[in-house]
Amino acid sequence: MLRLASETPRAWVDRAAGDVDTLLLDHAHCEKKAASTAMNLIFRYGRLPSLVRALSALAREELEHLERVMDVLEARGRAYGPLPPSPYAARLVAVVRPEEPLRLLDTLLCCALIEARSCERMKLLSEHLPDAGLRAFYRDLLASEARHHQLYVDLAREHVPDEDVDARLAELARHEAAILRGDDEPLRMHAAA
Ligand SMILES: [Fe+2]
Ligand SMILES: [Fe+2]
Repeated sequence: MLRLASETPRAWVDRAAGDVDTLLLDHAHCEKKAASTAMNLIFRYGRLPSLVRALSALAREELEHLERVMDVLEARGRAYGPLPPSPYAARLVAVVRPEEPLRLLDTLLCCALIEARSCERMKLLSEHLPDAGLRAFYRDLLASEARHHQLYVDLAREHVPDEDVDARLAELARHEAAILRGDDEPLRMHAAA
């Protein structure tokens, strides 16, 4: 269960299928960013050993994903390199409340939603991309992203009462869905269709 407040339209998948190299390059950056965010949380919340252990494993897994996406890029004759990110993540975390423990709660739930959106879109890619190898690649990855979504929600529940987690998650999910309703955005893993 991904707890998203909207479904990605088919138009996004069609755009992705039409520019797979950009999709893959952005995807590589997303994996790198996912590892880096987990590392930042390890530094910021070193007083929470269960969080440190869980996010250490997650960061390692995201770096493995980065290497796998780089392998796919290279097999297509494309190199990893710079790509301007979509404004999605910055807009999403703009509503994180500054005071603890709300900052921890909001940050974990934003991470949970990013993982959920990745998983939802990877599922679409695994069903609709024309290339069978890429469909299999995304089928393979989406289970990890579903697990990461749940891990972030579970970490939030460890530190905040369940009903507060659920209410805030629903609120942030609506905010996340609104961000993806824009238009005229370049193709990205997390951008409007
Ligand atoms: Fe990943
Ligand atoms: Fe992930």
